[in-house]
Amino acid sequence: MPVESTGTQLRLTSPDGFCHDFHALWLRENSTDESFRDPITGHKLQDAAQLPLDLSIVEAVQEDDVVDIRFSDGHRCRYGYAALREAGETPFPPELVGDKQVWKADLAPLPWHDLADLQSGPDRVLAFLGDIARLGFALVRGLPVELDGMAEMTKLIGFLRWTNSGGIADVKSIARAYDLSMTPRALEPHVDNPYRLPQPGYTLLYCLRNDAEGGESILVDGFCIAEHIRRERPDLFDALTRVPVVFRYVDEQAILEHASPFIDLWPDGSLKQTRFHGRADQVAAVDPGLLDVFYEARRLYAGMIASDDIRLRFKLEPGEMYFADNYRLFHGREPFRLESGERYMRQAYMDRDVVSSRQKTLLRDIHAQPWRPRDDDAVG
Ligand SMILES: [Fe+2]
Repeated sequence: MPVESTGTQLRLTSPDGFCHDFHALWLRENSTDESFRDPITGHKLQDAAQLPLDLSIVEAVQEDDVVDIRFSDGHRCRYGYAALREAGETPFPPELVGDKQVWKADLAPLPWHDLADLQSGPDRVLAFLGDIARLGFALVRGLPVELDGMAEMTKLIGFLRWTNSGGIADVKSIARAYDLSMTPRALEPHVDNPYRLPQPGYTLLYCLRNDAEGGESILVDGFCIAEHIRRERPDLFDALTRVPVVFRYVDEQAILEHASPFIDLWPDGSLKQTRFHGRADQVAAVDPGLLDVFYEARRLYAGMIASDDIRLRFKLEPGEMYFADNYRLFHGREPFRLESGERYMRQAYMDRDVVSSRQKTLLRDIHAQPWRPRDDDAVG
């Protein structure tokens, strides 16, 4: 029997093993009946918080692929079985569609894409976004070797995040460096700008010149490390999700601060975000007992980030770029010798909703165009 009501709950089952219990009030407020929900906007026409808390299911009848439900407040609605099942199986939407694959230094092959391919068909853009969903990054070659050459690629996805560094900004060694990235020294893997709200969603690094000795790029999969710690040391994993760390940037015109744990989770316990910025974070002065566990956890977390079998290394050539999930990956670079040549990169950021919307609209319609602000919208 695929549908079974207890009055306060409805159980949906299927011969393939699917089983989910729905709360009567959840069903009631997810009614698609036109008396309750506007068919055009999908907005509720009544205040769902005012529905009776003791509301119950009077009758639930399945007819083929429809479940017909009558409620104790007199409301009646016909629900698609498939839609109910999807709501049970996927209670909240994924940010990007696609299974994740964690990886280490030996990841092969690397997820390379050619600009000409990406420009030739939206299915190639979807494949690119699929790599972002799966691995947290993708690489592009064949970009024009000119100052804003990366824009040929980014405009296939959407608009850039504007910060006080501008849109596409230089990353090269300068005499009066105000950031370690502007010196030739090694950069330990980190996320970019964890002090911003929101933190930039994706980090884009594009190569104009890279003929100095050294200067290889490093990428680390934070989700691989987090899942390893969750498996091996759940007590330390818990501390990494609970102890806040303060990230801060201060200069003469800006004070940017944000406090959050190293690891954030979605409500179902899956990984949402991993952070690390060993040079610029400050652990919050919370309960010393909690910090005891946290410091041990941080030792393990940082140790894994530093480990050779975790760090993926590659050297970007002129006209190549990486597009990396700044909520999952840590990026860094090997030191380089200024006397031996030049290392000139350009970087930019893209917000998370721009990227996920691009993927979802392409999945809905393969001919969908990148999201652009439109001036005829009513704001509300
Ligand atoms: Fe960075």
